[in-house]
Amino acid sequence: MGKDVIVACDFASAEQTFAFLDKFTGRKPFVKIGMELYYAEGPEIVRQIKARGHKIFLDLKLHDIPNTVKKAMAVLKNLDVDITNLHAAGATAMMQGALEGLTREDGTRPLLIAVTQLTSTDQESMERDILIKEPIDKVVMHYAMTAKNAGLDGIVCSPLEAGKVHDTCGKDFLTITPGVRFADGEVGDQKRVMTPAQAKEIGSDYIVVGRPITAAADPVAAYERCVAEFCD
Ligand code: C5P
Repeated sequence: MGKDVIVACDFASAEQTFAFLDKFTGRKPFVKIGMELYYAEGPEIVRQIKARGHKIFLDLKLHDIPNTVKKAMAVLKNLDVDITNLHAAGATAMMQGALEGLTREDGTRPLLIAVTQLTSTDQESMERDILIKEPIDKVVMHYAMTAKNAGLDGIVCSPLEAGKVHDTCGKDFLTITPGVRFADGEVGDQKRVMTPAQAKEIGSDYIVVGRPITAAADPVAAYERCVAEFCD
């Protein structure tokens, strides 16, 4: 795996999701299933999208005590997703438990990625609400190293941070980057954005793209444009 465009299917139902995915008659996009769709439709939505031939990033961001996360991951491993994730803030024992739970009897497992500080958290809210006083960049890099040392495969981060994460944690440590927008497109609520071409330049391994594709007049053309800018 490597260098791919992951489409965030932030829909509230299977019906809407399939109406969207039915438009893709050629290349089948790598699909991100987040909390909204998963909680609405349950594990069956994962099986159905998988059966249609898509790779899947199951974005459920687990964060609980190590034993609970390990057991939850042991359930998720049977869904045969390609990537799943958790919060690095759960700390090393939780991340190691997650890896154990996720590993199948034959030794295979989905890639496991950590969320560091959410991009909705800024320096001010981090200091005020979670009493972390270090600079946020340093916190993100520290979480990345902790995830790497726990044995995880990579992190979710802003495309602006991807280069530094590779410098700190190595080239093979995966960076999955949302916050991608076309140069001529709407930014919406994302604050720090990059184009697919810039994300490629800086070394992101996967870009996660939602509304620039799902809300486009021609979603397939928007997806193909992302692929052309990022992968080719
Ligand atoms: O529509 P848009 O391209 O902004 O969608 C980005 C996707 O990536 C959404 O599913 C959002 O939840 C997710 N995401 C993000 N920033 C993070 C982590 C996840 O935008 N730090």
